[in-house]
Amino acid sequence: TRAALAATDRFGFEGIAASTADTITLPEGFDWKPVVLWGDPLFPDAPAFDPETRGTADTQARAFGDNNDGMSIFLRDGRHVMAVNNEYTNLETLWTAPETPSEDDIRKGMMAHGVSIFEVRQGAEGWEVVTDSPLNRRITPETEMDITGPAAGHALLRTEADPEGRTTRGTWNNCGNGETPWGTYLTCEENFNGYFSSSDPAQEIAPDLARYGISAEDWGYGWAQIDPRFDIARHPNEPNRAGYVVEIDPFDPAARPKKRTALGRFKHENAACTIAPDGHAVVYLGDDERGEFLYRFVSDGVHSATGDNADLLETGRLFVARFAEDMTGEWVELTPEATGMEAAEILIHTRQAGSAVGATTMDRPEWVAVNPARPEAFVALTNNRNRGLKPNAGGDETPVNGPNPRTGNEYGQILRIRPDDEDHAATGFTWSLFALAGNPEVHDDAFAGSGNITAGNMFNSPDGMAFDTTGLLWIQTDGNYSNAGDFAGQGNNQMLAGDTVTGEIRRFLVGPRECEVTGLCISPDRRTMFVGIQHPGEEGGSTFPGGGLPRSGVFAVTRRDGGPIG
Ligand code: FEO
Ligand code: CA
Ligand code: CA
Repeated sequence: TRAALAATDRFGFEGIAASTADTITLPEGFDWKPVVLWGDPLFPDAPAFDPETRGTADTQARAFGDNNDGMSIFLRDGRHVMAVNNEYTNLETLWTAPETPSEDDIRKGMMAHGVSIFEVRQGAEGWEVVTDSPLNRRITPETEMDITGPAAGHALLRTEADPEGRTTRGTWNNCGNGETPWGTYLTCEENFNGYFSSSDPAQEIAPDLARYGISAEDWGYGWAQIDPRFDIARHPNEPNRAGYVVEIDPFDPAARPKKRTALGRFKHENAACTIAPDGHAVVYLGDDERGEFLYRFVSDGVHSATGDNADLLETGRLFVARFAEDMTGEWVELTPEATGMEAAEILIHTRQAGSAVGATTMDRPEWVAVNPARPEAFVALTNNRNRGLKPNAGGDETPVNGPNPRTGNEYGQILRIRPDDEDHAATGFTWSLFALAGNPEVHDDAFAGSGNITAGNMFNSPDGMAFDTTGLLWIQTDGNYSNAGDFAGQGNNQMLAGDTVTGEIRRFLVGPRECEVTGLCISPDRRTMFVGIQHPGEEGGSTFPGGGLPRSGVFAVTRRDGGPIG
């Protein structure tokens, strides 16, 4: 019976088959329902989303942003507040005339980025946004915020608008997230480079900007046309003011977000925060680019269960991972002595600092998840077609190495790190591969995947990852959804759960067509799992979820018997 199964089965669900259906597919006994979709109003004065016009800059600024990614739910004084990243936007979906965007269209795109913060409550129809809550807030690329930590005020951060280098406007391309034990939200600036361009036809890109992918052309957003700070010919230091982790108080809509330079500047994926045995805050950080590195921050101060932790992420030590072939590794501190760079510059040109100490080039570090059940961290290394074939953007060679063992790695892997002395702040660690994704139906070499990958659970490109409180590892994918060739039988992007003790992996959810499944949090009562569906129909092949214009959103997954998930 189901009750007997639940009592003995670690997962609490039967794994499902791969699917190419244009919907969310779940195991028997589970349901899903939208909570909030791109363009839904977050304030009483904001209009309902209009799929004909797709809104204006003004309506978008008062509505849920586009392409939601990392998210958290917080509970205080009986109120649930969600903080959700809005990473980017698909211009073909956002604009009605993508070839000829108006100034308002460009501004609407800008307002679709950032973070959406809003109260939710459970009504008769399930979870819904409380549109008249005073806690609701949109953080956009225009929101005033502080630059904090050791790099604040550095010459590389000073601009015409901010001659002190200590305040800036906005955050964008907010990918994964984190939350702290003291109740703040961490949002991570990833592909910040794609928004800058140059008005100078002869623009030369300095190596320090090239390392971060800054170029004379943006990725089509057009922001420099409406805001000159995105023109690197006029404001060459502006890109140095993005690429950070930003800390936000989700219960104070007036609080200024804080960019935490102590956590370094790179294409931040997420920020997995835990407390070491001696009280130091530890944050694991991935830099999502082919051949870039894995980092760890250890705070100077210690966490206080009763006191003020507001500035724990203000100062600390930043380390980069160096892996050895013998399944050990070490965290190398990025100091002036080790890198030959001044302390503040290390936090601005962090990639260059990692190269200087010979950090291990990785297969695109996506999310890190810290196991609540034992001292270990898991890292999603999503894929790297350049592995063994091409150097990274900084020129570091990328031969295959222990945790990145496959040339032209198209499937990705999940790495396990166990800190020495069961202490996340220790210098040394041991590592192993929890899973090598692959396709055992197509390959019989290393691309078949590790022993826990079967024809029944195979996937590619692990990306989002989070543990639930029971120690199950939830794995989300952002990969090739062609369901053909090397990816035959893998279907749409999906979410799986892994038992990190036995190694067993089961498929729990399959997303609609051409989406990425990303962003995950669980209600404090464990009865609802919130899952993000990003960019359904990015190639034009989906009408999820409403049968018309495809829209990203947050979806509530529940058990029909009301039981806990995870
Ligand atoms: Fe925004 Fe690396 O995914
Ligand atoms: Ca991701
Ligand atoms: Ca991704």
